[in-house]
Amino acid sequence: LTRTGFGDDFIFGTASSAYQYEGAASEGGKAPSIWDTYTHNHPERIMDGSNGDVADDSYHRYKEDVEIMKEMGLDAYRFSISWSRILPNGKVSGGVNEEGIKYYNNLINELLSNGIEPYVTLFHWDLPQALEDEYGGFLSHKIVDDFVAYSEVCFKEFGDRVKHWITLNEPWSFSNLGYTNGSLAPGRCSEWQQLNCTGGDSGTEPYLVSHHQLLAHAEAVNLYRQKYQETQKGIIGITLTSHWFVPLSNSKHDQEAAQRALDFMFGWFMDPITKGHYPDCMQSLVGDRLPKFTKEQSERLKGSFDFLGLNYYTANYAADSPKVNASRPSYSTDSRANLSTERDGVPIGPGTASSWLHVYPEGFYNLLMYIKNKYDNPLIYITENGVDEMDDPSLPLEKALIDDHRINYHFQHLSFLQAAIRGGVKVKGYFAWSLLDNFEWANGYTARFGIYYVDYRNGLKRYPKLSAHWFKNFLKQQKVSIVS
Ligand code: GCO
Repeated sequence: LTRTGFGDDFIFGTASSAYQYEGAASEGGKAPSIWDTYTHNHPERIMDGSNGDVADDSYHRYKEDVEIMKEMGLDAYRFSISWSRILPNGKVSGGVNEEGIKYYNNLINELLSNGIEPYVTLFHWDLPQALEDEYGGFLSHKIVDDFVAYSEVCFKEFGDRVKHWITLNEPWSFSNLGYTNGSLAPGRCSEWQQLNCTGGDSGTEPYLVSHHQLLAHAEAVNLYRQKYQETQKGIIGITLTSHWFVPLSNSKHDQEAAQRALDFMFGWFMDPITKGHYPDCMQSLVGDRLPKFTKEQSERLKGSFDFLGLNYYTANYAADSPKVNASRPSYSTDSRANLSTERDGVPIGPGTASSWLHVYPEGFYNLLMYIKNKYDNPLIYITENGVDEMDDPSLPLEKALIDDHRINYHFQHLSFLQAAIRGGVKVKGYFAWSLLDNFEWANGYTARFGIYYVDYRNGLKRYPKLSAHWFKNFLKQQKVSIVS
């Protein structure tokens, strides 16, 4: 595997997000986001009871981190802007926090002066708490105007230097894990689910929140295109996540279930932004609980991306599940697909520190070919792909830096990516998740996704894992292979 195989205009980077990296949660004029509230109110829902108050402290250490990227030979860095660092109460009328603007200017300038291209996500789940308090955040249509106004501040302040914008990160995860099982902020779910959360309606809220995310995305893209694109000459897209789904058996029923699972995870967002409506199977299974787009909204959604950001990590088996309790609808039952990671007790691929993540690299190829064929071969950047290991405090540092499994993960995924590119898929970049170990949402600091180790117990010092050396060799045009 060599980097030349990807072509000259292909970029390599690493990805991050504000809440997972920045820290400085109440410094520099930043107001709380729903993640600050969630972690502080519910430490019991975070595996190690932790939060992102300090995280990797990138707010103070960004220069050191950019230096690491430069040293490695990375071309690009994907990071997100913390909305409540820029607009503490979520709205432009509440005033722009100049210290927040300054932080992102510093980061962007540091990147550019080191030859690293910024790829900027506007929303990676850390909604200003003020908007959640005022009208329920993404549950309300009011979020659309506020998101557009916030986006405009970012285009205005940073768009002279930022040429790649991503409106939303993984709207599926935000609306499902935040409103179906409550494992992400704002942590809502229905009582009957008997989970560790309440205060929601899992049969309707994920659909509403997704709907508003889609509308907010389309309006922000529209604004960028109308007012900024011509002069700033950037491009704008959205990052979607999808697993690949393998039918549990060869039966027609299971094959259809796999297709439904894909539609309920990927098509849910991809269909609206390409065709202007939700997948047919969602319309018929979700019925009235699925909001509708007006004609105008649907026109605005259609084609509302210059590129697709795609996050791929894993695959599931899908089996037909005809029995649905109609009084208790939710995402998982609505799709009538039973998802599992095992067939006859055999996992779909090797497990990792995260229970949802089984290594299934051919799924990456299958998903990419599926997108090419079904959605008219869009321009794609892989905005995340990576794997974790469990934090083990008893391991000596030298041992904790040995991550052969990560080298193999990236080798295999990059190999399948190259095969997909040869198969005609238009992918122009790859971002590994992640440069540094960081705050892994409900897993706290127990799951380590970095190619750099962060020593949380000793001043957050960063150390390259073996995979960092491997990546560096790859980026410096050396041939790399798998670790046997
Ligand atoms: C995302 C992801 C990241 C995670 C990574 C590993 O939505 O972009 O959830 O923030 O840390 O996917 O789980």
